[in-house]
Amino acid sequence: MYARAVVFYLTFVLVCSNRCYWNNKCSNKHFGSKTIYDEVRGDIRDAPELKDCEPVSVWAMIRHGTRHPSSSNLPTMQHAAELKDDIVRRYLEGRGELCAQDITNLQEWSMHEIIATTPGHLTFEGYKELRDLGVRFHDHFLPLLQDLDQHHFKPTLEQRTIQSAKAFVEGLAQGYLKFEISNATDRDEILRPYFYCTKHNVEVYNGPRSKNELSKYHETPEFQKVLENVQKRTGLERPLSPTNVSGLYDLCRFLRAYSALRTSPWCALFSDEELQILEYLNDIRHYYRNGYGSPINQKLAGPALGGLLEQFESSVQHSTKSFTSYFSHDSMIQMIYSALGLFRDYPEISGFERLPDRKWRTSYMTPFAANFASVLHKCTNETGDINHQVQFFINEKEFHLCQPRTCSWTEFKDKFEQFRNSDLEFCNIYNSSTTALKSIIVGL
Ligand SMILES: *[C@@H]1O[C@H](CO)[C@@H](O)[C@H](O)[C@H]1NC(C)=O
Ligand SMILES: *[C@@H]1O[C@H](CO)[C@@H](O)[C@H](O)[C@H]1NC(C)=O
Ligand SMILES: *[C@@H]1O[C@H](CO)[C@@H](O)[C@H](O)[C@H]1NC(C)=O
Ligand SMILES: *[C@@H]1O[C@H](CO)[C@@H](O)[C@H](O)[C@H]1NC(C)=O
Repeated sequence: MYARAVVFYLTFVLVCSNRCYWNNKCSNKHFGSKTIYDEVRGDIRDAPELKDCEPVSVWAMIRHGTRHPSSSNLPTMQHAAELKDDIVRRYLEGRGELCAQDITNLQEWSMHEIIATTPGHLTFEGYKELRDLGVRFHDHFLPLLQDLDQHHFKPTLEQRTIQSAKAFVEGLAQGYLKFEISNATDRDEILRPYFYCTKHNVEVYNGPRSKNELSKYHETPEFQKVLENVQKRTGLERPLSPTNVSGLYDLCRFLRAYSALRTSPWCALFSDEELQILEYLNDIRHYYRNGYGSPINQKLAGPALGGLLEQFESSVQHSTKSFTSYFSHDSMIQMIYSALGLFRDYPEISGFERLPDRKWRTSYMTPFAANFASVLHKCTNETGDINHQVQFFINEKEFHLCQPRTCSWTEFKDKFEQFRNSDLEFCNIYNSSTTALKSIIVGL
């Protein structure tokens, strides 16, 4: 028994601490907002039932599935990909520390793989992710889905969200239920409020805070060490800049997310620990852009969460059964988390230092296909009286906004009342010069 345990342990250590990427069976799986959903999700079908309750209303905000790099991601990736020939040449000169097979895989890769795709579009894998999610929701909510009074499915005005909505509904309907998807509309203030909020554009998205924190983190010894290590590992002659490494990191994580094998030859350039350091850069950026880094971010989730409150109230008052799913972006989901006070750290996320056990980890919060779902249940107690309870799921794992498991109707209303009648008036602060500012922003 003891001997077997030792053998098992040794096998584990040997496989996992492999120096090469190509045969490492347990390499890092956390790539911030480019994490593969299946690698961090739960399964809504496995959630234990709530005794003497039935779901009567569902409201979900869902991120699109895996997408191709967008046109804003592409230039740094393209630049970084130009390092390929140098890396191979240095290897042939006996420099660097990469394994033979990792070099071969890099040699066989071509930038054409990316150029041939449409920027920002949903990938084949991404379509499947959403369809499978829909299938699991179908299985979990079946009696409700067959008995709905109302349903509402709506994406933002982007190919990746429109296709994601189609994929999810395909899985949910299973060929025999009938659902309609609403057409996406421009200036959708529920689904993508930040996109049309001048105040957010000027002060947050293009504001100095996120850039400053990232620059501060670039100066830390642990980040500087990544630059040195990658240069040493590749044998490259010239020092690497943070931008160079960010391009290489995107080549690793984007290609990995949509390749059928879930690997990218570019990941061989990084150790697992270095990938965790790069993951933190993603966490900082999103914390300031969409999270607690600015109070504007929390306010932007108001219209969506106010809508959730109204849907559940209407369901309680009129006994209507309803199902709503919106198809949006990681920014929107992070704003919802922030409005609800989830994943908040003290001290706060900053460029000063990386806390390995922080709560704000975009890999777990918003992988591709991330989803936040709330379920209203109608329950009967021992004396036959009816009460309502609200259950929450994040990426198909039950999440306890109230203790021990669900929110009572009163607790739910107390928490969500603040979102009633939310508006985005505060966005118009640059009102008089709005038109001029918009042209600046669009140019950025
Ligand atoms: C590396 O970064 C430097 C400075 O940011 C830039 O001038 C250079 O073109 C980059 N090289 C590659 C291959 O991306
Ligand atoms: C969506 O738009 C198309 C035309 O682009 C139209 O034919 C269709 O009726 C619209 N669907 C809904 C539900 O409004
Ligand atoms: C059932 O609910 C009613 C109304 O909320 C309450 O008065 C009663 O005490 C509850 N019974 C039990 C056994 O919890
Ligand atoms: C300026 O703000 C007011 C109310 O705050 C709004 O009614 C008006 O449409 C805004 N004007 C522009 C150009 O955005």
